[in-house]
Amino acid sequence: MKIAVIGATGFVGRAILSILEKNLNLSADSGNQIIPVASGRSINEKKSVPIAPFGSVQVVSCEDAIKEDPAFVLMSAPESVSKKWAPRFAENKAFVIDNSPAWRTNEEIPLVIPGITKWECDATKPVIIASPNCVATMLATAIYPLFRFGIDHVSASVFQAVSGSGMRGLIALEEESRKSAYYPHSPFVGQIFGNIIPASGREKDPLDPKRISSWNTEEEKVMREMPKILGSQLKISPTCLRVPIPYGHSAAVRVTFKKAFDSATIKQAFLDGSNIKIEDEPSPIHSVGHDYASVGRIRIDPYDKHVLEFFVSSDNLRLGAASNVVSIMDEVVKKVYTEALK
Ligand SMILES: NC(=O)c1ccc[n+]([C@@H]2O[C@H](COP(=O)([O-])OP(=O)(O)OC[C@H]3O[C@@H](n4cnc5c(N)ncnc54)[C@H](OP(=O)(O)O)[C@@H]3O)[C@@H](O)[C@H]2O)c1
Repeated sequence: MKIAVIGATGFVGRAILSILEKNLNLSADSGNQIIPVASGRSINEKKSVPIAPFGSVQVVSCEDAIKEDPAFVLMSAPESVSKKWAPRFAENKAFVIDNSPAWRTNEEIPLVIPGITKWECDATKPVIIASPNCVATMLATAIYPLFRFGIDHVSASVFQAVSGSGMRGLIALEEESRKSAYYPHSPFVGQIFGNIIPASGREKDPLDPKRISSWNTEEEKVMREMPKILGSQLKISPTCLRVPIPYGHSAAVRVTFKKAFDSATIKQAFLDGSNIKIEDEPSPIHSVGHDYASVGRIRIDPYDKHVLEFFVSSDNLRLGAASNVVSIMDEVVKKVYTEALK
């Protein structure tokens, strides 16, 4: 099986490579091969990425990768690259799994968290599958086990690490911490070092596209993506803030149920959920390197017995991106290849 990893020099791409190294048999006689892909800049610089057991593997362009006929294309590059290349790889019979926002809200394209999203993989047509935004993945993972208790609505204050904006976000934090001044190439609207800023600019209201509202782009992604992932009319109102930490997103979540509930039952539901770990003090720094959402501070609002409050942290590059993409690939292998062999 040939797997092209697009964006192999970036944060998410590198996390995907490290997961594939561990999960896949990459020995010479396995027939498995990884094709790392990056931009023209990296190709001109003859950049390579470490992939055990091959050592250093030179990156190639999308043009060269498509000639190799990969079976899977795991894309973690800018949205414009996905818009251009995902359909071409898919028409070339590859299963394309995309991490960018390019396809997430397209009605024809499934938006998948394995184990949560119900979806079919029709391999008779070109297949593009979208992986959700890192905040939506964390929140959907934490909220999914609570669904059966009847949720009325959810609100969340979300604290997003700078690496959620890719390499440029981390460079901005590092440069600003050295100079204590705004970094001119920052992806953020204001100085992030020593500060908290709205995650992005003002956008159209996702609930009424004709109206300009004060939802920022990250909030809009969460509001659009969560109902699609969960296959429900989930009402969620998030406040997304960018905070000056390198890795790991977090959220303080309030879930309003239709009926009063019992806290022991809710705790058990979290324990039974997949990719969830209950911890006394979840925090972004402790979530780094893990493929689960850490949930803690679980409590009932003393003024409203219908409201559950909890705190959740997860690694935005792993649970929020790389490990979800690899899990989708595993699900496709199961749905398409294993089913076909039966
Ligand atoms: N960071 C997160 O927490 C997160 C979570 C969920 C989803 N995502 C999404 O995942 C994608 C990647 O994010 P990231 O954080 O990994 O960004 P990043 O660290 O900035 O990396 C971007 C990658 O894209 C590559 N690239 C740029 N232009 C390309 C082109 N024309 N052809 C092929 N490759 C190209 C870059 O290669 P060069 O090194 O050559 O420039 C680099 O490898 C984005 O769409 C983002 O929205 C990110």
